[in-house]
Amino acid sequence: MALRIIRTEEDPILRKRSRPVTKFDEKLGQILDDMRETMAKANGAGLAAVQVGMLRRIIVVDAGDGVVELVNPEIVEADGEQEGEEGCLSLPNKWAIVKRPNHVKVRAQTRTGAWRMFEGEGLKARAFCHEIDHLDGCLFVDRMEKMLTEEEVRRLQNERLRTAEDDV
Ligand code: NI
Repeated sequence: MALRIIRTEEDPILRKRSRPVTKFDEKLGQILDDMRETMAKANGAGLAAVQVGMLRRIIVVDAGDGVVELVNPEIVEADGEQEGEEGCLSLPNKWAIVKRPNHVKVRAQTRTGAWRMFEGEGLKARAFCHEIDHLDGCLFVDRMEKMLTEEEVRRLQNERLRTAEDDV
């Protein structure tokens, strides 16, 4: 496995459309392994192949309940609505309020080519939508309601910590 360099904002590749994966070979497995490692190292909740310079329809998501790998993903169902802060490994230090569906069903292939259904709610639904957007060259700043200042991000994170304490 190897860490890959995460492309950032000014890199024009982030605006390109990724192509479907047609070969389910060892090379795909290697890309997925590298993407998992790169996402974990960067503490991300998701990563799309284009972010490491590969224009292929591949994403990995880790919303805190284990890593899932989705090849050629398509959202087939979306419902509900959530509004919350969102960031991106390719746009360091930028955060915004973005509206997303609260629940999605995604059809995708595994690393061996089998079709499967994936489901996400809350953060996981947000991560699926965000990563699938990357495959069409779309960044969260295109969909944002409002950009957050650093201070606002800090305040939201503190509020969340306090809420977690209240729950206990
Ligand atoms: Ni992103």
